[in-house]
Amino acid sequence: MELSDIDLVNPDRWVKGVPHEELRLLRQKAPVFWQDMPGSDAGFWAVTKYEDVVAISKDPTTFSSYRGTALLRDLPKDDLEQTRTIMLNMDPPQHSKYRKLVSQGFTPRMTAALEPRIRKATAEILDEVAQRGSCDFVRDISAELPLIVIAELIGIPVEDRHKVFDWSNRLIGYDDPEFQTSEEDGKMAAMEIWLYANQLAELRKKDPKDDLVSLLMTSEVDGEKLTEMEFDSFFLLLAVAGNETTRNLISGGMLALIENPSEWQKLLANPSLVPSAVEEMLRWVSPVSQFRRTATRDTQIRGQQIKENDKVVVYYQSANRDEDVFKDPYTFDVTRSPNNHIAFGIGEHFCLGANLARLEIRVMFEELLKRMPDIQLAGPVRRLRSNFINGIKEMPVKFTPPRVRAVG
Ligand code: HEM
Repeated sequence: MELSDIDLVNPDRWVKGVPHEELRLLRQKAPVFWQDMPGSDAGFWAVTKYEDVVAISKDPTTFSSYRGTALLRDLPKDDLEQTRTIMLNMDPPQHSKYRKLVSQGFTPRMTAALEPRIRKATAEILDEVAQRGSCDFVRDISAELPLIVIAELIGIPVEDRHKVFDWSNRLIGYDDPEFQTSEEDGKMAAMEIWLYANQLAELRKKDPKDDLVSLLMTSEVDGEKLTEMEFDSFFLLLAVAGNETTRNLISGGMLALIENPSEWQKLLANPSLVPSAVEEMLRWVSPVSQFRRTATRDTQIRGQQIKENDKVVVYYQSANRDEDVFKDPYTFDVTRSPNNHIAFGIGEHFCLGANLARLEIRVMFEELLKRMPDIQLAGPVRRLRSNFINGIKEMPVKFTPPRVRAVG
């Protein structure tokens, strides 16, 4: 393969899996690579080395999330304004203030308090499925838990949670025709979320409950509250950020364990390795492929001249396979230590839901080990067509139901 063959934009190049060969070539030959983009968008600098991804993420003054948002595509002016009301697309000091406010819902204590509910929900999902002997792992297992957890956390009534599933698919799956037929449909989904958020906020203002909506509607930092618009944007971000990512980590992590049976055996023999396996699954899968920044001034990365307003895109999967940081990066090792992966990003925008995601994933695999020790693939894996999310749409699996195992 040559550098001239590389195309990180075309989603077809991602449909068979993360293009690791391309990313490896870039790290070796062109760690700050100019990638053309078809259509009206200018191209961008693709950054693939761990050290550079970290440095850029930690320097929001030079590499802004606000100027062109954190999203790869350039947005029309109206959409740009609206998208900037989401914290992911803010810079300090605005971002710091906002983050302080919403962080109140994500303290370690609040996250830990969710564990019993997460374990109960996981047990319910798995007990029902385990009896069947086979299922679609994505639809029946990994998509369910993050939805229930987000719904619980925000305070969305359980009967409405499939709305969130539908919205997040339509918003994020824009390159996959199965999920979204047009850009208009994505916008419609965003509108529906905003409307729903508004109604829920009104309800909780009148009648607060023990949930995130009530907390955010009433709490203040330095005398400031979230405006209605800010609240709606946060709701939209949570509905998307907390679902697809965790779902795809659970599916992709399970696939890695099925494809590396000796690692699964290690976990069966010693479930206390699960937390370390969770970190390795995060490194291995890196459910978010990239986020974008925009240079606020002329600068340099690794000696490469970058002009003000150039797009700079950081590739997490590449950083997490960087040979200069990880020993045997292409080996899936549930005991890997150290494992300083950056699947949750780093710096100002470090994933707000990281602790919650870690908790969900840990509980899910602890319970899977107990119920489906002989899980294996039962058909072809179908992947999401996306250069943004490393996703699996369908993964047929089979396993021995517990009653049969008990008899055997
Ligand atoms: C395996 C699961 C997850 C992965 C891989 C992941 C990944 C990421 C990454 C890479 C960022 C950094 C964005 C940047 O630097 O521009 C981020 C930010 C964020 N994530 Fe996650 N995420 C996950 C789960 C969650 C969950 C469960 C939630 C919420 C319940 C969540 C909420 C957020 C929010 C609100 C931000 C924006 C933070 C900010 O702008 O300060 N994420 N996530």
